[in-house]
Amino acid sequence: MCGIVGAVSTRDIVPILVQGLQRLEYRGYDSCGVAVYSDGLKRARSTDRVAKLLEQVQQESVTGTTGIAHTRWATHGAPAVHNAHPHFSHGPGKDAGGKAGRIAIVHNGIIENHEELRAALQRKGYHFASQTDTEVICHLIDSVYDGDLFEAVKEASSQLHGAYAIAAFCKDEPHRVVGARAGSPLILGVGKEGGENFLASDAMALAGVTDQIVYLEEGDLVDLQLGRYWIVDRSHKPAERQVRTVQAHSGAAELGPYRHYMQKEIFEQPRAVADTLEGVQGITPELFGDGAHRVFKEVDSVLILACGTSYYSGCTAKYWLESIAKIPTQVEIASEYRYRDTVPHPGTLVVTISQSGETADTLAALRHAQSLGMNKTLTVCNVATSAMVRECKLAYITRAGVEIGVASTKAFTTQLAGLFLLTLALAQVKGRLSEEQEAAHLKAMRHLPAALAAVLALEPQVISWAEDFANKEHALFLGRGLHYPIALEGALKLKEITYIHAEAYAAGELKHGPLALVTDEMPVVTVAPNDALLEKLKSNMQEVRARGGVLYVLADADSRIESSDGIHVIRMPEHYGPLSPLLHVVPLQLLAYHTACARGTDVDKPRNLAKSVTVE
Ligand code: F6R
Repeated sequence: MCGIVGAVSTRDIVPILVQGLQRLEYRGYDSCGVAVYSDGLKRARSTDRVAKLLEQVQQESVTGTTGIAHTRWATHGAPAVHNAHPHFSHGPGKDAGGKAGRIAIVHNGIIENHEELRAALQRKGYHFASQTDTEVICHLIDSVYDGDLFEAVKEASSQLHGAYAIAAFCKDEPHRVVGARAGSPLILGVGKEGGENFLASDAMALAGVTDQIVYLEEGDLVDLQLGRYWIVDRSHKPAERQVRTVQAHSGAAELGPYRHYMQKEIFEQPRAVADTLEGVQGITPELFGDGAHRVFKEVDSVLILACGTSYYSGCTAKYWLESIAKIPTQVEIASEYRYRDTVPHPGTLVVTISQSGETADTLAALRHAQSLGMNKTLTVCNVATSAMVRECKLAYITRAGVEIGVASTKAFTTQLAGLFLLTLALAQVKGRLSEEQEAAHLKAMRHLPAALAAVLALEPQVISWAEDFANKEHALFLGRGLHYPIALEGALKLKEITYIHAEAYAAGELKHGPLALVTDEMPVVTVAPNDALLEKLKSNMQEVRARGGVLYVLADADSRIESSDGIHVIRMPEHYGPLSPLLHVVPLQLLAYHTACARGTDVDKPRNLAKSVTVE
């Protein structure tokens, strides 16, 4: 989703700004731009890739020592150059007089009251060159500017409703950039030379530039100048924020032998799961933070809040939590929960799951639960410095490493690993986990990296399935029990990167409607581990075959399902009991990946999608 980079320096910062945008490209965008101070405001904007923007700034000799840059993921207004950031103020008055091009701004997030503000600014004589809510902020700052940009941003942000992060500069104060954070992430990078300072929406943008990072908090305003910076909190009081040394993950951006980040990340899963479980010697609540034992003792139910793939890992965890820890568990789509009337229960452990830790809907759902008095909160999250981790009492940090491919893969399996540990820890505290059971589960978890590696070796067989899928427009995924969420995740992966319409059903639901869709043009992927529901699933498969549907079955080694006419079987290396979802999802990720390659889609940056969804 949108990305911000800003800098105040004594050297030409355009290369740093553009490289910063390149590091944020993986988040998804549809236009980009950069603006600098160079005897006035100068900018270059493009609806092409950042590499093209770089050519443009070179051709147009855009250089400067103070500047801001942005990758935009369109919300208000089409992806077009005139809507791309940075935006400049120009007004009031038709000819814009001496005030023309005074303020430059970039913005992530959404301004909810932009229509009222736009109307008020138009009444004052401001003219709008774009359809964006961002331009409203720009003119608003201009309208209250009286020689001090920090004061103007402070005043303007008090009139903004919504979630946003902004970075602005003014041609009348050439060595100053001002930032504000309210609902969207923003960090400050303390420069290493010449007193330079930086702003960014993600520390990754500053990899190789500085590792001295300050995570701004909700409501913070920051004033960046040469050799100094200044932060005030939401009540405009001076705020001290810790400077942390953050190892930037530039190394993770190397593709190595892989064609795409998604493929790389699928193949990193044995390592990612091993890292996530590293240091787990035994099951103890303290894996989730200090005080977890007391919290776990007090809770009698679990409420999981998440979006997308993270929601499906929550759906899988529900089966574990209810069957192993015997704790009633509810899983809710965060964007639904945040607006729904619910009955709060103080004995509930609220668990958010998020790769990025910045997903706007999940954060809002968490805050909604807290506002209802549910303060026992825990997150399973891949980013230790994220808002989600900061705002939850307890946390399990997965160690997937940076996930660049928009379609989540290794984040999902590492979330499952963290959620399985949570299940065991809750079961232990509730006296529902014997020492023998704990030892058996731990043994299975330690073997997971090897088991995942064995599944990855099935890739050539999955490629032959992908060849069949490449020319299809619809697909059905079936699973039962613990593997129903895996069918859902398989369908989501296929949709996201191949644009094939895919739907997943609990296999028992087939005869209640979706069977009507089945023809020989509808491939039906069936997740069929050798568990207690296998015989039921086999009957569902017969229902598909009887209608001419072609089955693609992921069967366990010992499940006695054979390939035959209209039934293609890939045999999983071993049956893995309750942890089987971590293995069965891998061929589905590979199926989506290879089908996308066969169809020639942009695997790592699928159309219309962004990596970290920081707007509602
Ligand atoms: C799908 C995908 C999304 C995310 C969802 C939540 O491949 O990546 O569905 O899972 O946007 O994101 P996080 O986990 O960052 O909260």
